[in-house]
Amino acid sequence: METERFILREILESDAQDIFELDSDPEVHTYLGNKPIKSIEEAQGIVNYIREQYKENGIGRWAVIDKKTHEFLGWSGLKYEKVLRKNFPYYDVGYRLKKQYWGKGVATETAVAALAYGFQKLHLPEIYAAAHVENIASNKILQKIGMKFIETFECDGVLNNWYKIERPEEPIKKT
Ligand SMILES: CC(C)(COP(=O)(O)OP(=O)(O)OC[C@H]1O[C@@H](n2cnc3c(N)ncnc32)[C@H](O)[C@@H]1OP(=O)(O)O)[C@@H](O)C(=O)NCCC(=O)NCCS
Repeated sequence: METERFILREILESDAQDIFELDSDPEVHTYLGNKPIKSIEEAQGIVNYIREQYKENGIGRWAVIDKKTHEFLGWSGLKYEKVLRKNFPYYDVGYRLKKQYWGKGVATETAVAALAYGFQKLHLPEIYAAAHVENIASNKILQKIGMKFIETFECDGVLNNWYKIERPEEPIKKT
């Protein structure tokens, strides 16, 4: 998949070093349970976990690659989420970027493309998302891409906002 500025592709085994840089940063993990990874082996485990989801669920997060520089910025996209909400498996939209790429609209641009893919290619009736209540950037993005706040819920002692978007009548235009 591509947007104006980015290529969205499967995460590959060769991305382990980039995943390590992303997930070992404590700031990236501020609203993700504060458990940054410590080793390249953990990063390889994350890559394998995501690649298993491609096989099992037909979808998983995508690597975000800058078209101009070919840099790996982080990941964005859809995941079939079976654990977060008890007894309610759902398609989740999410994003995680290396800190040096924050504040440039990367998450918004790629999340819009992920919604378009979910509705137009996977024909999903609805897509959901969850964000820590204090994660201002993430809550702002979810609202900006048209998701509607439904409720807050608790997970591991943390309050999250829960959002939903239904498939629109007109196809979503990705940039
Ligand atoms: C969340 C994250 C993906 C955002 O990526 P990004 O590419 O910087 O996001 P965008 O630039 O598309 O949009 C962020 C929006 O939040 C706003 N924002 C960010 N921090 C803010 C703050 N502290 N107060 C108010 N607004 C803020 C930005 O101004 C922007 O809004 P705008 O487009 O109206 O200007 C990135 O910060 C990240 O990877 N964080 C760590 C992982 C994470 O928390 N993931 C989400 C889990 S739910």
